[in-house]
Amino acid sequence: MNAKYAFQGALVAAGVGFAAWAATAQGNTTWADVEPILDANCTRCHGSSHPTGLDLRSYASVLAGSNRGAVVVADDADNSLLVRKIRGQAGALMPRGGPALSDADIATIVAWVTAGMPE
Ligand code: HEC
Repeated sequence: MNAKYAFQGALVAAGVGFAAWAATAQGNTTWADVEPILDANCTRCHGSSHPTGLDLRSYASVLAGSNRGAVVVADDADNSLLVRKIRGQAGALMPRGGPALSDADIATIVAWVTAGMPE
């Protein structure tokens, strides 16, 4: 193997390593992990008749957002309104009236958004 191919091989190996690390860091979090958290804490208000239209009962309705726009931005948890709300960083903390979600539940939702909201 000449030097050029050895270098390319090293780049490929580094890329594969990074992808594997990223997958582990996100824990392959999917909608199946997020749905029970929203069901238990959010859907009693965010159902079919919420004032801002934000229905948190299904994958499609979460991605559809409210009548003010999207609440989750793929790979950008810090700018996702849903994440900002459960962290208390954007007006009223959600779930409204508290108590706040557990750190583990918040981490699950952040991991899901960071992973690009996989179904
Ligand atoms: C007790 C009722 C109630 C519960 C439970 C609740 N919410 Fe809300 N939520 C509201 C109300 C009312 C608003 C609109 C007023 C406001 O923004 O504070 C709102 C607004 C929001 C918004 C902003 C929507 C927009 O664009 O206008 C987000 C995002 C949100 N809630 C997420 C959540 C999440 C996630 C949960 C569960 C962890 C949750 N909420 C639980 C009542 C609730």
